[in-house]
Amino acid sequence: MSELIIRNLHVSIEGKEILKGLNLELRGGETHAIMGPNGTGKSTLAYALMGHPTYEVTEGEVIFDGENILEMGADERSRLGLFLAFQYPVAIPGVTVANFLRTALNARRRADNPDDKGISILEFRKMLKEKMDLLKMDHAFAGRYLNDGFSGGEKKRAEILQMATLKPKIAVLDETDSGLDIDALRIVSEGVNTLSDGDLGVLVITHYQRLLNYIKPQYVHIMFDGRIVESGGPELALRLEADGYDWIREKYEEKVVA
Ligand SMILES: Nc1ncnc2c1ncn2[C@@H]1O[C@H](COP(=O)(O)OP(=O)(O)OP(=O)(O)O)[C@@H](O)[C@H]1O
Ligand SMILES: [Mg+2]
Repeated sequence: MSELIIRNLHVSIEGKEILKGLNLELRGGETHAIMGPNGTGKSTLAYALMGHPTYEVTEGEVIFDGENILEMGADERSRLGLFLAFQYPVAIPGVTVANFLRTALNARRRADNPDDKGISILEFRKMLKEKMDLLKMDHAFAGRYLNDGFSGGEKKRAEILQMATLKPKIAVLDETDSGLDIDALRIVSEGVNTLSDGDLGVLVITHYQRLLNYIKPQYVHIMFDGRIVESGGPELALRLEADGYDWIREKYEEKVVA
């Protein structure tokens, strides 16, 4: 079973500290949700986990299946089975969805078995069609350039398609619900649930309790000012929905004494 352990993580962007000692443990088969006000560092956590160069880790450690991944590049982390669905996916004109996924899948397979010859085109097409049907995506998508001209909802579906293809061990989904219409929200959530049925560990970042009606987390964490300040079960998300963040601010805002 996979395990992601984040200890005392401090991350700065251009010299400004955004994450200020974040702790989180997530295991395969578990679903965790992170909620928190805008600008508290949720996406920063996701990027830092993936090894984005703008996000400088100044302290702490991230252990994935016993290995400290902080020294690894993003591609190596991905090959190990860490997956990030971005809040704002980037377009890659010139690279089709199918080519991108096949290349990424083969890299993942070779990481698990250096002798792997790669998936055959026929086998890959069959698998891709199955996954696209699961997410109710038009098969024509496979031939389009990745995220190029995709609508907001299409980008999110394409991300989940990546996840379904790559079968990561731990997936971090940053606001996968934003921009999805009501049907798409359900379809994408069902896709995530189908994938998280087994050993997959999922960390969903969301602003809305609504998503958590579909993707049911066992653990909910509240992030504030670069730290996780409260952890609990799904009831925590319901409390936020009802009360907002004022009680969190009151409890955790650093009081500046004039
Ligand atoms: N590349 C960057 N350059 C400068 N500042 C950045 C950069 N990325 C993030 N920040 C700053 O870091 C802080 C945390 O941003 P982050 O995107 O992690 O917040 P968030 O919790 O994901 O917010 P939201 O709920 O709005 O998505 C913000 O003040 C943001 O402006
Ligand atoms: Mg964000």
